[in-house]
Amino acid sequence: MSQLILHVVGARPNFMKAAPVIRALEQHNVGQYVVHTGQHYDRALSDVFFVELGLPEPDVNLGVGSGSHAQQTAALMTGLEAQLIERQPALVVVYGDVNSTLAAALVAAKLHIPVAHVEAGLRSFDLTMPEEINRRVTDNLSALLFVTSPEGMAYLAREGADPGAMHLVGNPMIDTLLSNLDRFDPRAVRTQLGLGDRYAVSTLHRPANVDDPATARAIVAAFSDVASALPVVIPLHPRGRESLRRAGLDDTTGVRIIDPIGYVEFLSLVRGASLVLTDSGGIQEETTILNVPCLTIRPNTERPITITHGTNQLVGPGEVSKQAMAILEGRVRYPEQRPPLWDGQAGPRIARIINEQYA
Ligand code: UD1
Repeated sequence: MSQLILHVVGARPNFMKAAPVIRALEQHNVGQYVVHTGQHYDRALSDVFFVELGLPEPDVNLGVGSGSHAQQTAALMTGLEAQLIERQPALVVVYGDVNSTLAAALVAAKLHIPVAHVEAGLRSFDLTMPEEINRRVTDNLSALLFVTSPEGMAYLAREGADPGAMHLVGNPMIDTLLSNLDRFDPRAVRTQLGLGDRYAVSTLHRPANVDDPATARAIVAAFSDVASALPVVIPLHPRGRESLRRAGLDDTTGVRIIDPIGYVEFLSLVRGASLVLTDSGGIQEETTILNVPCLTIRPNTERPITITHGTNQLVGPGEVSKQAMAILEGRVRYPEQRPPLWDGQAGPRIARIINEQYA
């Protein structure tokens, strides 16, 4: 009987990263246990991904829910500690940079259980982002660092990470994207939303963009300009809904606010879009592979490879409209090279290493 590998997932961007790793470990007949922390609990932010990605139902859902950073992280740690003591896994696998990732790494490290971090080595060097704190601490505590792009290897080396722990494996979220490519049909979602063939898609939820009323207003003004050229569809995350509403987003002609949508529907929408406007991390990577121009409304990115090897550009709120118009006029730079190892095989690479070392 192999030893138990315990995965911790909790928030929307975790699920598409975990799916290929869990699936590839199944091929090695490894004992697995999936803990969902319940950080995200709305159907549209959680359940729908398990169904669409064919993920096994989590073995347990801790139902932690929302709260301030300290409250949420404390509740996550308390719930996870009980699970880890009960299950005594050989390895805890954590994904990305959300609060569930950080909490799981802290709890496992203090119980002397090794941690594997999937998506290690990303750095924005911006400690005002909670994700940057989460990923730095998680990397520091991890025995296995699964890195998505070469600059991540360099950052980890510079921070003194053990070279034996670092593995450049590619991007498991892109495994999920590539294996579902046939399902991304822009026509169906366009018909459903009554869109023509020219539209922009947007997502916004970063505290730096939605919490500050002046920034939120500047973004809404930019969207208003873009929406005078083509419709802008926004599946709006619950975080920021109120502040964007107060900044006038609902009353902006040409902007269509819809509820969060599932994985297949969202990527179908992105695949057919003329332009994406976002502050998400993962969407910078997905547009890179789908070859859709992406304007990231942030001063920095932990994913610079999406700029050098993708369609991504960083813009301030005041530059959105000008850059969007340039893209719509056809001034688009498409990458000549894809990021190395973003080939759909990251999950199997990760599983092979875990199987050799811990199962
Ligand atoms: C979290 C991650 C962020 C990631 C995002 C993707 C952290 C620190 N942030 O941000 O990196 O990009 O997920 O979605 O972990 N809420 C709901 N329903 C839910 C979950 C949350 O309405 O199912 C609302 C609540 O008002 C909650 C707020 O969203 O207070 C924030 O949720 P939280 O999990 O703290 O962070 P996200 O903003 O979702």
